[in-house]
Formats: sequence, C-alpha cells, structure tokens
Amino acid sequence: MIKKVGILTAGGDCPGLNAVIRGIVKTAEYNNVETYGFLQGYKGLYENQYIKLDSYVTSGIVHLGGTILGSNNKTNIFALPEKAPDGSVAYVDKSFEVADRLRRDGFDALIVIGGDGSLKSARDFTRRGLNIIGVPKTIDNDVPYTDMTFGFNTAVGVATEAIDRLHTTAEAHGRIMVLEVMGRYAGWIALAAGIAGGADTVLVPEIPYDINSVVKKIEQRRNMGKKFSIIVVAEGAKPKEGDISVRSIENSGTGLDSIKLGGAGEYVAKEIEKLTGQEARATNLGYLQRGGNTCPYDRILSTEYGSAAMQLAIDEKFGRMVTLLNGKITDVSLDDVAGRDTEIGSKSSNLKLLDLEGDYVKTARRVGICLGD
Ligand code: F6P
Repeated sequence: MIKKVGILTAGGDCPGLNAVIRGIVKTAEYNNVETYGFLQGYKGLYENQYIKLDSYVTSGIVHLGGTILGSNNKTNIFALPEKAPDGSVAYVDKSFEVADRLRRDGFDALIVIGGDGSLKSARDFTRRGLNIIGVPKTIDNDVPYTDMTFGFNTAVGVATEAIDRLHTTAEAHGRIMVLEVMGRYAGWIALAAGIAGGADTVLVPEIPYDINSVVKKIEQRRNMGKKFSIIVVAEGAKPKEGDISVRSIENSGTGLDSIKLGGAGEYVAKEIEKLTGQEARATNLGYLQRGGNTCPYDRILSTEYGSAAMQLAIDEKFGRMVTLLNGKITDVSLDDVAGRDTEIGSKSSNLKLLDLEGDYVKTARRVGICLGD
C-alpha cells in the first residue's frame, strides 16, 4: 500500500497543470494517500523544497492557468552545473543523491507532469530505482504515445481567436496578416488553429516552404476578389532553402533546450511584401497561448490524467505515463515515450511531429489551405 506521493510540474507552464494537480490530490485523499508538491519543478526536487497538498490547497484551481507549484525549465538534476574555484564549470550528476533522499523521506512514488524533456528526466529517474509516473503536458502536443497532451486545446482556442480578430482587420485594410504561433519543432497548434480559423496558408516545420507558393495563393485570392489573406506560421517553420528562425540561444546547461525560436512570422511577412508589393503585417501571439484560463476540454482531460496517474500509483504500476489513445485513457511505458536508447541526462527524446499522411494535413489540403509546398 502506498502512503506518500510527490508531485512536480516541470518545463514551460501550460493550461491544465492545476487541474492535473487537483485530480491527483483528490484521488489521493479519497484513497488515504498523502501528497506533497515540489516547488519550481526539478529545482524544488533537487533543493528539497515542497509543500503538503490537500483538497483545501487545491480548491478553486481547476480553471486556472499556470501552476500552484511553480515550474522551471532550467534544472537538469542529471547534469547540474558546478563552478570550480578556477571559474570553470563542470556538470555533475546529482540524481543518485536525490533518489536516495526521496526513498529516505518515505516517498513511495513521484508523479512528474511535464513535456518531452521533463518526461525524459522522469524516465531517467526510473533508472535510479524511483517509482515514477508521467503526465503528458504541453501546448505543443508533441509528446509521443498520446493522441493529445493537455494544454493543446486551450492554446488552439487562443490562436483561433487571434485569427478571427486578424480576419476582420485584414479584410478592412486589404492586407496580408501573418500570425506566428508556438509549437517548437511541431506544427500542431498552427495547423489546428489554421483549420479552425479558416486560414489561407499554414506554414509548419514538417513541410519546409517555398515562399513562391505562398505568393501564388495570395494572387489566386486576389484574382477572385479577395484582397486580404491570413497566413499562420509555426515558430519552427523554415523555408526550403533556409534555416529555422532563432530568437536566442541561452546557456541552459547540458541536456536542456537552449534554442529559443522566434521571428519566423516577421520573416514571412517581409518576404511577402518584397514579392507582392502588398502590405503584410506580422503578429507574434507568444505567451498569450500559454497563459489564462484553461478551456473545458483541457480541464476534463487534465482531471482524467491526474486521477488516472494517482490510480496508477495506488495500483503500484510504475514507470508509466498516462495517455489518451484512440479516445481512451490508458498508460504507456515511460521508456517508449523518452526513447529506449536515449542516454541518461541527455536532451534527446522522441517528438511527435505532424503526420504528413494524417487527418489534419489531409483536411487542410482538401479545403484548399496552402501548406507552402
Ligand atoms: O513548449 C512550450 C513552449 O511554449 C513552446 O511552444 C515555446 O517554443 C517554448 O515553450 C518557449 O519556452 P520558454 O518558456 O523557455 O520561453
């Protein structure tokens, strides 16, 4: 019988985190299991900073974005930077001591709510003998072995509303409106919002684009009397003959994502103005996609994920990630999610990219959305 479970939320925040925490805590309480939340993701796990959770603490948070536990995407316990007296930095694996401490403190299991990088660390902790359960979080929807991560639907809702708003002003001025959305190396948000918002062109990382096809689509529309066009650009989109747009490269340490994307939409808008002579304006939706209230679909999915994760802990089924597969909540091995051969402490992990033969891409093509190829 398990008695004490730790929870942490790691990586970029995402709508639905609080609903997952609440789902875990309520299910735990019902089964007389104590829960503790580590603060600021893996940082709090390393520093042993945690709070006791119960249904009083998690009351009134089901709808709230952010996370009551805080999050952080800069701590890799398997490779923590340590400064030597001569100023040089060495990366040290602290995972053994953290795992020993958790065992000593009586934690029977740890539930990690995170995206691909955080779930990779979660899998790595299973190799230190800890009882881990993962919950797939990210607005990007790029975690493998699940149809849907929580947070994705909320982000698509925000991006769709942005397209709707750009639509009216684009039409009034006869302009080309370019909307850059998040998603890292996957085009899920861009394509889903593009379909929902009736975009004319959607550029995704999975399909390197030819700017001439974008221009052709604009001209086709102009010839049928539509002077404006709406173009959605995923932050990871890149031209056939060019590179991805990088906003900054941070020194995040080994095993962490140091490349921050940004600027793809601005680049597309400039190219279009050059080639068509028509006014093009770029909007970068940025962090609005991650903040604010969680949509009903994500509140339900997050509650299902949270309660299923706690149930896995109660059933002592460890090393698993809760997942939605073919419309059913089930679980898969964390080893499959992270990649069975990926090295401990490294950044490399599986990513679920858009399926070029999948329904989203097929639907987009059937309704005449230009994908830039
Ligand atoms: O993974 C979620 C995400 O919001 C991406 O879509 C985006 O590229 C990235 O995080 C931004 O991360 P940060 O919080 O480090 O700026």
